[in-house]
Amino acid sequence: MIHFDPTTNTFNLVLSTSFYAFRVDPEGRVLHLAWGVRPHSAADTVVLAGPGFESLPQPDQAAVTRRYELSTFSESALQEVSLKVSFPSLPQQMAAGEAMHLPIRDVRLRYAGHEIVTDSSSGSGRSAQPGLAPAHGQPTRVQTPRETLRVRLTDPSQPFAVTLCYRLTPEHDIIERWCEVVNTGPEPLHVEALAFATLHFPNGTLELTSVSGWWAREFMTARERLPMGVRVIEQRAVQTGHQTNPFFLLNRPGQAWEETGHVYFGALAFSGAWRLAFEQLFTLDVRAHAGYNPFDFDLTLAPGAQHVTPAIVIGVCPDGWGGASRRLHAFALERVLPRPADGPAVRPVLYNSWEATLFDLSHAGQMALARKAAALGVELFCVDDGWFGGRRSDRAGLGDWTVSPDVFPDGLEPLVAEVHRLGMKFGLWVEPEMINPDSDLYRAHPDWVLHFAGRPRTEWRYQLILDFGRPEVVDAIYAALRELVARYHLDFIKWDMNRYTTELGSAAGQAIWRAHTAGVYDLLDRLRWNFPHLQIESCASGGGRVDLGMLARTDQVWTSDNTDAIDRIRIQEGYSLAYPARAMEAWVTHATNLQTDRVSSLGLRFDVSMRGGLGIGSNLNELDDAELAEYASYIAFYKRIRHVVQGGRLYRLQRLEEWGASVIEYVFADGREAVYSAAVLDYQQGWVRPPSPLRGLDPSAMYTVSDRHGAAVHRARGFDLMTVGIPGDACGNPGYSRTLHLKRV
Ligand code: DGJ
Repeated sequence: MIHFDPTTNTFNLVLSTSFYAFRVDPEGRVLHLAWGVRPHSAADTVVLAGPGFESLPQPDQAAVTRRYELSTFSESALQEVSLKVSFPSLPQQMAAGEAMHLPIRDVRLRYAGHEIVTDSSSGSGRSAQPGLAPAHGQPTRVQTPRETLRVRLTDPSQPFAVTLCYRLTPEHDIIERWCEVVNTGPEPLHVEALAFATLHFPNGTLELTSVSGWWAREFMTARERLPMGVRVIEQRAVQTGHQTNPFFLLNRPGQAWEETGHVYFGALAFSGAWRLAFEQLFTLDVRAHAGYNPFDFDLTLAPGAQHVTPAIVIGVCPDGWGGASRRLHAFALERVLPRPADGPAVRPVLYNSWEATLFDLSHAGQMALARKAAALGVELFCVDDGWFGGRRSDRAGLGDWTVSPDVFPDGLEPLVAEVHRLGMKFGLWVEPEMINPDSDLYRAHPDWVLHFAGRPRTEWRYQLILDFGRPEVVDAIYAALRELVARYHLDFIKWDMNRYTTELGSAAGQAIWRAHTAGVYDLLDRLRWNFPHLQIESCASGGGRVDLGMLARTDQVWTSDNTDAIDRIRIQEGYSLAYPARAMEAWVTHATNLQTDRVSSLGLRFDVSMRGGLGIGSNLNELDDAELAEYASYIAFYKRIRHVVQGGRLYRLQRLEEWGASVIEYVFADGREAVYSAAVLDYQQGWVRPPSPLRGLDPSAMYTVSDRHGAAVHRARGFDLMTVGIPGDACGNPGYSRTLHLKRV
């Protein structure tokens, strides 16, 4: 609900358990008042009247501490700014008699009016979609209209206007913030820095939880105290990145834990060069500038041109990091992931041949794997890298998206037909943004890659990046993908992306930082629009492209190339802070892991992979009948519990950082069904871990707790389960794990 009080010029955005308030001051500045948890039991109509906690009383510090809803380069340069614009001239009427000192870089935004608009309920035609919102026309699971507050601001003397946008999803305490900038004058303007929003937190909100890592160790959770000054988490790339991920949790130090404490959270819906700059001022004010990375940034606005930024999804909740994660998950499940009406209700069990065969692909080998996979209960069969052009290794072939006769002498059709005959969907791996210099495409178009004329072209994995700043390149890649999907009746593509940027020279100039992501989104949207049944996985050397912008266009993400079950527990825990299990693809691979050489039991490998969308990546030709039967049994079990894993609420009952074990629960909101999953990473002789009381069950109902064979291993009332947990996991050596299914009797 959006309230505006015209007597105080105060806006209150009222959500389920939280609120967000700001006001227009007498000078027309739009200033933050407060954002937090609403007093318990306050009616929707009881709102903040002001004055809020805006700045220090000392007038000479007011310029620095003023809590602008979008901070600009103007009255102070001491702190970070969210918006910086360079104006080439003064408006004609003001120039007389004054040295102009061009370009002018002073932006003062003043209130010019506001509107409240409501999404039209017609799917893609929604009126309040933030920039780079999907254009694929596919609905999300929930489509009830939402309100967006649009606050219009203008600069008093320059032809420049900004609209601050706030779309509310009250049931999840979520606000999407983005802004629209427009050049209303006759000359081009240069926007030199642009965040989607400035966020203000109560002073002392200093404990930051974020993730960091690299290839094969994505999503490592890190907690730290914000320093005085600026702490930046960012990615300077055309993908979301492995080193960190664009989300945060923030709370007062020591005052939040998994299920307790007020926690602020945010996640960018953008997959390009991004930055979250957390700033603690000398006054102890805490703010964040969230949006485009200002490194090498330039946005040229032609006369009359408008730019709409992507959104940052923000919220605050009273129930700890778990409460923040559940809100982000619910939002992604209901409002972000595309869910075509006739699409699968649950993610299918996938087989992917990458770790089984690497580049050693053959028609006979894939046929054999497909038959074995189908017999296990696999529902989607994906052929990974190596099926096309001259791609017999990673040194050649990217860009030539035609089936290689060396691998499939009779074409791909017989394999597709066999996979479909076996009752599975069929998918292919692609890496559309990339090109090997050793490819027909490069030989025909050496100019189609990012580069600076006369300068070196640095290869990474023997490949270069196509210049998506050229519309003809994006169109050519679309034509190739369209041909593949149509000709082979593809049900699924795994969209990979395997290098970082160097020499970012493009036909689009510096705009390439955004144009590349826009090109990727455009291709994904066009594919979904034209092939509504097509399912897409986002992969970038593992988990290098996971964010809400991508989830809006894909069905699942590849979390990491590291499939070692022990390592994966930690990776998946970090992922779960922001993103839902439904989208988290997780493979069971060989006993001896390809990346780490560590040996793990089949039980651990399945228990960890069954926490998300289950995939199989082992070489099935190397398994004996007994092992294949075990695989089949686990897959059958997963099919009985996956609706809970993929649609239930996640509770992290024990986190790794506590006692070296990860115990999680997925439970439906009404408590009728739950999945309990325990996995131990670390143990010392003599430890007895505390119990893991479950959550979200019906205290007075009786539950059966059964294992993968359907055998009841425990029976207890919800009350008992929610106070003492399920007995049996107090000890356990590294590698111990189990998954249990709870059902209300
Ligand atoms: C990186 C991906 O993350 C892997 O799963 C695999 O698809 C390879 N690329 C293929 O080159």
